[in-house]
Amino acid sequence: MKIILSGASGAMGQTVAQVSDDILFGIDKIPSESNFPIYTDVETIPKEETDKADVIVDFSNVGFLPDILDFAVKNKKPIVIATTGLGEEENKKIEEAAQVIPVLVSSNMSLGINTLLKFLKPISNALGDGYDIEIIEKHHNRKKDAPSGTALSLAESLLEGNRYIEIGRNPSSGVRKKEEIGIQSLRGGTIPGEHSVIFAGDDEIVEIKHTALSRKIFANGAIEAAKFLSHQEPGLYEYAEVLEDE
Ligand SMILES: NC(=O)c1ccc[n+]([C@@H]2O[C@H](COP(=O)([O-])OP(=O)(O)OC[C@H]3O[C@@H](n4cnc5c(N)ncnc54)[C@H](O)[C@@H]3O)[C@@H](O)[C@H]2O)c1
Repeated sequence: MKIILSGASGAMGQTVAQVSDDILFGIDKIPSESNFPIYTDVETIPKEETDKADVIVDFSNVGFLPDILDFAVKNKKPIVIATTGLGEEENKKIEEAAQVIPVLVSSNMSLGINTLLKFLKPISNALGDGYDIEIIEKHHNRKKDAPSGTALSLAESLLEGNRYIEIGRNPSSGVRKKEEIGIQSLRGGTIPGEHSVIFAGDDEIVEIKHTALSRKIFANGAIEAAKFLSHQEPGLYEYAEVLEDE
């Protein structure tokens, strides 16, 4: 499998390069030292080089997403999108691209979080509605988006009935509503990523916590997703399908 690595000079791009020998070339607006070429402009990439690739893995920035999606569609390459902070516009563009090429989007590529995403709803159903749900996420001080895409995915997996997501709490928030799924964000130091889902009931708290101890879990997960996606038909895929395939 030959990979095009988008965001190759970033913290995640460099970690993917550490865990994989399959990088054909990288794309990043900032050049960095690596044992594969890094192109700073998609327009300058020779077509014959792109033709050799099987899949694109993107750990860049939401601002670059339209360009890398256009590049993927133009060259008919499957793309794993790990970049977070996607809005309505980006999601629409992703859906359009998925008509033409295989696209997998996951705000968290780790096995732990994806397993949690699978089992959170059954746990919530078993506990019933007597519990308030709060999610706390902690990340390094360079993280641009908040709340984390993972916290949003965890909260979305618990949405049903009148439940809604409430981001942050401030002096005007008042007393929490029963239907709220609260998300609180903390930023500092070099924390690679922590997510706690808290079910707080009367005299009882159930807390499920995932801690990323290094970025390697995301890099390895993205490589697994790339292997899966490189032999799929055009369409929009979820990480759960990678786990099922394994
Ligand atoms: N899905 C996951 O499992 C997961 C895990 C960790 C991080 N992330 C996400 O991946 C993304 C990258 O994270 P990071 O910590 O490596 O960030 P980073 O800032 O260290 O790296 C991002 C890289 O993208 C490059 N880039 C940004 N805009 C660009 C543009 N217009 N053209 C070309 N290159 C551009 C930057 O130069 C930088 O090298 C973030 O959105 C982050 O939230 C996802």
